[in-house]
Parts: sequence; structure tokens; C-alpha cells
Amino acid sequence: MGFEVEKTTGDSEWFVRDRFGLFIHWGLYSLGARHEWLQSRERMSPEKYAKYFKRFDPDLYDPELWAQLAADAGMKYFVVTTKHHEGFCLWDSKLTDYKAPNTPAGRDVLRPMVEAFRSRGLRTGFYYSLIDWHHPHYTVDPKHPLRFDPEFVAQSATRDFSVYRDYLFGQTRELLTGFGQVDLLFYDFSFPAENGLAGKGKDDWGGEELVRLVRSLQPNILLNDRLQVGGDITTPEQYIPTGWVKVNGKRVVWETCHTFSGSWGYHREEESWKSVEQLIRMLIDVVSKGGNLLLNVGPTARGEFDERAVDRLKGIGEWMRRHSRSIYGCTQAPESFECPPDCRLTYNPQTNRMYLHVFSWPFKNIHLRGFAGKVEYAQLLGDASEIRMKEGFVASGIEEGAFREGRDEHTVTLSLPVKKPNAAVPVIELFLK
Ligand code: GLC
Repeated sequence: MGFEVEKTTGDSEWFVRDRFGLFIHWGLYSLGARHEWLQSRERMSPEKYAKYFKRFDPDLYDPELWAQLAADAGMKYFVVTTKHHEGFCLWDSKLTDYKAPNTPAGRDVLRPMVEAFRSRGLRTGFYYSLIDWHHPHYTVDPKHPLRFDPEFVAQSATRDFSVYRDYLFGQTRELLTGFGQVDLLFYDFSFPAENGLAGKGKDDWGGEELVRLVRSLQPNILLNDRLQVGGDITTPEQYIPTGWVKVNGKRVVWETCHTFSGSWGYHREEESWKSVEQLIRMLIDVVSKGGNLLLNVGPTARGEFDERAVDRLKGIGEWMRRHSRSIYGCTQAPESFECPPDCRLTYNPQTNRMYLHVFSWPFKNIHLRGFAGKVEYAQLLGDASEIRMKEGFVASGIEEGAFREGRDEHTVTLSLPVKKPNAAVPVIELFLK
């Protein structure tokens, strides 16, 4: 009953089963606390930006706590910005001085994070920015903070990008050899020319060769699609696709990444925080389309998760504790089952169970078209309480005061309690025959 999906070179079996991960954006921009692109947006020179390097001192950083929050939210993997566009490295890279050990933090902050998440059974993903606004041989482009500075543009012409490329290869090697098994690599990102400045893409990064290096170091690793040379996973961001994501007409393994509030890095004044219910619905919706959700936290420069993020993670965890069965191992429902209004279907092919997520609680009945003869038993997932059902045709019209429109020979009709069960999104588990 499964869907035909493009094969991946890396191991995607765990990925499509686990469905839900934590993105972490943490770096010097966390001190600016106004979006991780602030260096570029405010056209800041490296000299000005150095104030953050001087002050990076995450005295409250406790990776065990981070990992526990993610695990309790039901997340099964994490992807962390080992280096973002600013060029700052969280680990003790031998190839640069621009790293956490040389700040007041005085230590590698990546390694204990990997250990903490791994010890709780979460898989490890590294985000690595292809873009680098600090490296002395990274050339000007439309994203660069100093793109409008004539002096910098002139100086940039004397830079040798191949030196940067070697650095990118060297750091990739460090990350993929120094931290044990890395399950996912998220390179970010390629972009076209703009305003007379050349963009950067696969030839600049040495994409094909880089992929060979990555695969030789970690044969099972899942590679994202932003190097411009294909990749295992397609990664739309801050966007909910309308259906299973396709590339060249074929269904692919995909993951959409989202923020809680619009900014990836910690943003003190951002107010557009999504609610717990909205986030749960996003997760369900994505799984109902055969995808993964990677939800982002931008920790503060003191090393804590924003209290608003903690609130959301706990809320999601509360729902996941009773409902994760409708997420893990689940995918889009076979097309012969029709999804009723205000609902989402997910399906577990291993257990042959269907999950009906009710986004808007109706009055008493849900009619499931295409389900007749296929359902053996139904229950509310939250408390395993039976949901009674009726099958098949009943003459419509008002007969002896009983209006029964909505049922026909293809239909299973569920009898629901009038009151919405106490869950952000109630789920009905259908045991199929
Ligand atoms: C974008 C942004 C970046 C963020 C990433 C997450 O490419 O440049 O700030 O890290 O998306 O997908």
C-alpha cells in the first residue's frame, strides 16, 4: 500500500520513521538577539562584529537540559549550526581561531551537546554554512555584509576562493571524523547572482567532490539539497507544502524546517510566536504528506532555551506522550481513503493502523468515505476509549425524526462524544482489517 519514493544514497530509514527533530541555531548572533542575519542586514564589518566574539560567555549552558527538553517533546534527532553564515565555529576547529574555545566560553561547546543528545537516543545532524562572512578568502556576493562597500569589493577581487574551498573541505572532514556517527549533514546554501554580483553554487563549493568526500567519511549520512548537486533530502523552509514534495515529478524524502517565531537565532523582541496547537497541527499536517518537521530553537547567549520555546516544547511533549503513535512510523494515507473535512490522516503501514486527527471537533459524527468494510475497531488514542461506528447505507431524509444524510455504502460513521476530548488535537486510531 506504500507510495513510490525516490531512493536515497544515505540511510533514510530512521529518518522517515522518526519524523520530528530539533533545529538549533546558536552562535555570536545570539548576543545581537535580533536575527542571525544581522551582520549582513546591518552591513557590519568583521571589526564591528568582533564585539560579540569578545563577549560570548554561555555561563548557563547545560546541554543535558537541552537534550532532555528535546527528548521530552518527542524529538528523535537534532541538527545544530556548527558554523552559521557569520563563520563562527562552535567546535574546536584546528583550521581557524574563530571558534568558541577562543571566546570567554573557553571551550568546545559542540562536543558536549552531541554527547548529551546522543545519550538520550537522538540522532546527530550538523548544519554547516557554505556561506562565510569571516574567512579572509571568502569573496563578495549578494549576501555578503560588505557588498556595498567599494573598498571591500576591490579587496575581494584579490581573494583566492580556492583557499576558502579547501577550508570548507577541511572543516567537513573535521566534523565527519571527530564526532563519531553523524546521521545528517545540512549544508546552507547556494544562491543566484543579484545586483551585478555573482552568486555561488555547486562549482564554487566543489559540490560533486564534496559529496564524494562526505560519502567516503560517513557512508550512511543523509545529505540535504542545498549544495545544488541533488542530495538525499529536500528541505523547504518556513513553508508548508500542499502535498508530498516531488522533484522531477517523483516523490522524495523531505523535511520542512520552521521557527517558533520567524527568526532562527535568538530574537529578544520577536512577537510572532506560534501556539502549541498550531505547532502540533503543523507536525501532523507534514506527516500526513509524508514529510518530516524540524523545529528550531535559538538559545540565548547565556546558553538557555528561551522560556517561550520551553513552553512550546513542553506543550508539544504533553501531546506527544499520548499521541506519538500517530506520528512515528507514519506517512500519508493510501489514496483510497478519503480525508474528511477539518481532519488529517496519517497511516502506519507496519501496524496497518490509520490515524484520524480532528482539527475542529464536530458534533457527534464523522463520516469516513472509502472506509466501509476496512475498519475492525476504533478508539480515541488519548485514552484508548472505544469509538463506536456504524457502517453502510441508511436512507437519507427525515424519517421518524431521524435525519441520516452523510452515510452510504462506502462510509464508516464514527459516533463521537459531544464534548471535545481534552487534547490539543484529538486523534482516533482505526485498526484496519
Ligand atoms: C536560511 C537562512 C538561515 C537559516 C536556514 C535554515 O538559509 O539563511 O539563516 O539557517 O535558512 O534553513
